[in-house]
Amino acid sequence: MFSCYIFLSVLSLSGFLGDFHVFGCDENCPDKPVFSPSRLVVEFGTSTSANCSVCREDCLGKFSGLEHSTGRFQKNETTYLWTAEKINTWTSSILCYYNKGKDLQCCSILPIIVYQFPTKVEVGFRNHDGPMLEGQQYQLYCRVEKVAPLRNVIVTLYQGETVLGQYHPKYNNENKPSNMTFMNVFNATKENDGARYKCVARLDLEHDVALNDTISNIVTATVYYKPQLVGPAGGPVSLTVGDPLHLNCSAEGNPRPSVTWILPSAAPSDFHGEVFSVDSVATEHKGQYVCSINNTVGTATVKFYVEVHINYTPIILAAIAALVGLATLTVILLYVHYYRLSRTGEYRLKDVLRFRTPHVALPAGEL
Ligand SMILES: *[C@@H]1O[C@H](CO)[C@@H](O)[C@H](O)[C@H]1NC(C)=O
Ligand SMILES: *[C@@H]1O[C@H](CO)[C@@H](O)[C@H](O)[C@H]1NC(C)=O
Ligand SMILES: *[C@@H]1O[C@H](CO)[C@@H](O)[C@H](O)[C@H]1NC(C)=O
Ligand SMILES: *[C@@H]1O[C@H](CO)[C@@H](O)[C@H](O)[C@H]1NC(C)=O
Ligand SMILES: *[C@@H]1O[C@H](CO)[C@@H](O)[C@H](O)[C@H]1NC(C)=O
Ligand SMILES: *[C@@H]1O[C@H](CO)[C@@H](O)[C@H](O)[C@H]1NC(C)=O
Repeated sequence: MFSCYIFLSVLSLSGFLGDFHVFGCDENCPDKPVFSPSRLVVEFGTSTSANCSVCREDCLGKFSGLEHSTGRFQKNETTYLWTAEKINTWTSSILCYYNKGKDLQCCSILPIIVYQFPTKVEVGFRNHDGPMLEGQQYQLYCRVEKVAPLRNVIVTLYQGETVLGQYHPKYNNENKPSNMTFMNVFNATKENDGARYKCVARLDLEHDVALNDTISNIVTATVYYKPQLVGPAGGPVSLTVGDPLHLNCSAEGNPRPSVTWILPSAAPSDFHGEVFSVDSVATEHKGQYVCSINNTVGTATVKFYVEVHINYTPIILAAIAALVGLATLTVILLYVHYYRLSRTGEYRLKDVLRFRTPHVALPAGEL
């Protein structure tokens, strides 16, 4: 018979087994004491209460009791009204029982979950201050201080609004306030530059209490990375005299890169802007343009080969126009000349030719 009794291990943990007048509880008791509420979730240092209805009928006239490590109770018939002004132990429970026979009891235990919000939730980079270097690995930590119980804590690490990782030590048995640290690998990339990180510690008390979040500080990552061209990459640039020239060497980088140009001799010798421009190119602007985009992490170099062509079309058109003009002028002059001759009745070379030609040609044809 005794083998089916469970020992009050829960109560012995709390260190007040000695106070109990009970030996063991009958697991198969049909009419067990009923606690209301059936579970107690209490913030450390606050008051709480519970009732135990010892039985429906089995216990009438039998010895009953309420064992408690804290608080006090009143009895009204078969109901115990237990109250505690201030819960100030981290492990508590109450036992309600009645005697069924020799060494045999019907009992119920009300566990009391004592919780405490963290005093501090902190996010940061482990062993690191200041800017990080692209390509290196760092550790992002979230530290939660003096929270209880740990198994009810869910720590979530965020990058902006994106969840990076979550930690829930659900098998932790510590009831007292403890510190915990959650680590997440941080790969420093250009994309992470300027990203904001925060951590939220949630005490998930299984819906007995509204979920309670404690939010950390926010850290902003600064990642140094070498310059990267954002405009079109260099290469050949083909222009015609008079065209505008724009060479775009815009680049991203942290720290902000500086730009240095190596220009053909015709261009200004000292230029540091991101975009090199000439309003109207001439043939002497042709050549190789090199921009070096430079920061403390690295250098990017872009080369442009500028070709400047002369446009011959207007020259050809002008020449054609001149020829046409000349021809027209000649015709006009000839006409004017002929007209003047006909008016003055002078001998006309054209008429002579017209008369003479068939006359001379006929005998030739007969030959
Ligand atoms: C316990 O019982 C008393 C009286 O019946 C009632 O006023 C009180 O609200 C009950 N407490 C709990 C925690 O159920
Ligand atoms: C005891 O409980 C009964 C009914 O449950 C109630 O009428 C009575 O007022 C209670 N007595 C005390 C002292 O609380
Ligand atoms: C938790 O951290 C605080 C502050 O760093 C420290 O004072 C305390 O001793 C730590 N507690 C435990 C249980 O390690
Ligand atoms: C970080 O980089 C390593 C390899 O460089 C990769 O295995 C790991 O998945 C990366 N972690 C994250 C969080 O991006
Ligand atoms: C240079 O290129 C970048 C990226 O394409 C662009 O945002 C910027 O407006 C350009 N600058 C000029 C002056 O064209
Ligand atoms: C890059 O910048 C450093 C200083 O920031 C300077 O000393 C160096 O000459 C620069 N290199 C080029 C190629 O412009």
